[in-house]
Amino acid sequence: MRKTHGARLWRRLWLPLLLFGFYGLPLLVALAQQVPVVPDPVRPPAGAVRGEAGPPPVNLQPEASDSEIWARIRRGDAGQSPVAGPMGPVLIQSEGEVWRDVRNGPYRAYAGWFLVGVVAALLVFFLLRGRIRLEHPPAGVRVPRFSWFERFTHWLTATCFIVLGVTGLSLMYGRELVMPLVGKEAFAVWAIWGKLAHNYLAFGFMLGVALMFLQWVWFNIPNRHDLVWLLRGGGLFGGGHPPAKKFNAGQKIIFWLVVLGGLSLSLSGLQLLFPYQFHFFRDTFATLNAWLGTDLPTGLSPLAEQQLAVVWHGIVGVFMIGVILAHIYIGSLGMEGAFDAMWNGEVDLEWAREHHNLWAEELERRGLAERSVAQPAE
Ligand code: HEM
Repeated sequence: MRKTHGARLWRRLWLPLLLFGFYGLPLLVALAQQVPVVPDPVRPPAGAVRGEAGPPPVNLQPEASDSEIWARIRRGDAGQSPVAGPMGPVLIQSEGEVWRDVRNGPYRAYAGWFLVGVVAALLVFFLLRGRIRLEHPPAGVRVPRFSWFERFTHWLTATCFIVLGVTGLSLMYGRELVMPLVGKEAFAVWAIWGKLAHNYLAFGFMLGVALMFLQWVWFNIPNRHDLVWLLRGGGLFGGGHPPAKKFNAGQKIIFWLVVLGGLSLSLSGLQLLFPYQFHFFRDTFATLNAWLGTDLPTGLSPLAEQQLAVVWHGIVGVFMIGVILAHIYIGSLGMEGAFDAMWNGEVDLEWAREHHNLWAEELERRGLAERSVAQPAE
């Protein structure tokens, strides 16, 4: 009796424990070691000590007029400076003004409206369509849908992504939306912890996306059924569910968005984590110029690379949050029986037949449906 109870408890707890052990514990240790009680005072960069001998900020050359010197400074020409770092000798980086205007203006405004739009669209969809329920009673036969490793991969990616999304949005809007509510001190603590969580969990997310790709790429290669599925709006038009294998066309789109969006977020995020170490934008622009004959700038300064990484990371991140909000809706509230698949790893045979008929037929052909434990239909 006690053994059965223990086994049932273990069945419920293994996934949260594994996820916690995988990244929760290292994160807590990392946080405990690093979060300063009082933030370090801002120190001047190495070599920029007051009074240290060095050339004046503007090296006036006798042959150059003031206007020429200032034109060069405005262009971002490097001079000489004791300030360390690749941008030390650059007095003014003019593109930074454009970047600041875009970042504080349209970038945040459009991103915010996009997310509000996604939530409103999901609400309208729910009000019009309601929960997608089974058309026939459950068969009472459970069939395996996802292995424990597939579920571990999914929940590792999902939990990391949710923390990354919340802390990322806090970096974007926290000062305006959260600080007035909780006060400056509380917001400072939240922002420090949020930044650390964002930096560390990025690695869990990258691992999760890579494992997801390896396990599911085979099932997400487009086939002829996907076109029919899309033309029939996944069953919204034409009556009944269109044929589908293990993943339907809508799920394949989510898969590829997660893989490609995840890759793009990872690369731009690594560029932000390790400043001035990568020049992905210069390389991407050069490739696009060669392939498409475009004229994108390839002489980007190290700081312009970082500025582009900030904006790109934010745009892709907000877009992915919108996509994942829709995914979370359909995987939980929006469709009866879907959550079970990812939580317990099993679905009712009737669910499989209605949503993924070709996959269900294959399971039955391979005898997997009969071998599963029959349970009383509710
Ligand atoms: C609370 C959050 C989430 C819930 C409730 C959820 C739920 C689900 C469910 C139920 C499935 C299986 C659907 C089926 O059996 O056909 C699934 C699959 C999947 N999930 Fe999630 N998920 C969540 C978050 C995420 C996140 C954050 C990502 C990636 C960043 C993600 C990526 C995927 C992918 C790529 C699949 C396979 C394709 C698909 O079914 O759309 N999920 N999810």
